[in-house]
Amino acid sequence: MLVAEGRMALGTREVEILGTDIAREPLARARAGSYTQFEIQRGLPMQMLVKYFRKEGTQWQLADAIRAMVGFREWNLLGDLRPLGQFDVVFCRNVLIYFDQGTKARVLEGIARQLAPDGLLYLGGAETVLGITNRLVPSGSDYGVYELAPTRTAARERVSA
Ligand SMILES: C[S@@+](CC[C@H](N)C(=O)[O-])C[C@H]1O[C@@H](n2cnc3c(N)ncnc32)[C@H](O)[C@@H]1O
Repeated sequence: MLVAEGRMALGTREVEILGTDIAREPLARARAGSYTQFEIQRGLPMQMLVKYFRKEGTQWQLADAIRAMVGFREWNLLGDLRPLGQFDVVFCRNVLIYFDQGTKARVLEGIARQLAPDGLLYLGGAETVLGITNRLVPSGSDYGVYELAPTRTAARERVSA
């Protein structure tokens, strides 16, 4: 929906969106694009609801044009993420909560490896990278958004500039 809204700013730039999960059931639900009243009330602005969803019985059905923009793959975040490619933006929200500190670090470092140099990682409201990995740092003042930490060489160059 954000890509559709920002189409003018994106110009002719192609956008690929990939959704992953370790389990088939959430992937099937995401592919279907059918949401309960409770789910669409978790922060979706009213104008987006009206523009991109239609009511079907008790469910809200996402427009086919938006669904068609997203590909889905079954993937374990604890495995090798390199085959997924490089990402400008990663949303990994409310997943780290399942893992212990060491596993959180492994997953975050795996995601950091796949981020473009100016890429952004969005975590859930109760999640952070702080105290877990130093590969990522808060990005600007937006809560829950992280970017790659400057490399030592880049930091040295900035100090001497
Ligand atoms: C609480 S849900 C969060 C879903 C969504 N991001 C949100 O914020 O509403 C967590 C999801 O993480 C998935 N998950 C758990 N362990 C995973 C792993 N090792 N790799 C990939 N996905 C995993 C679960 O199957 C579940 O669908």
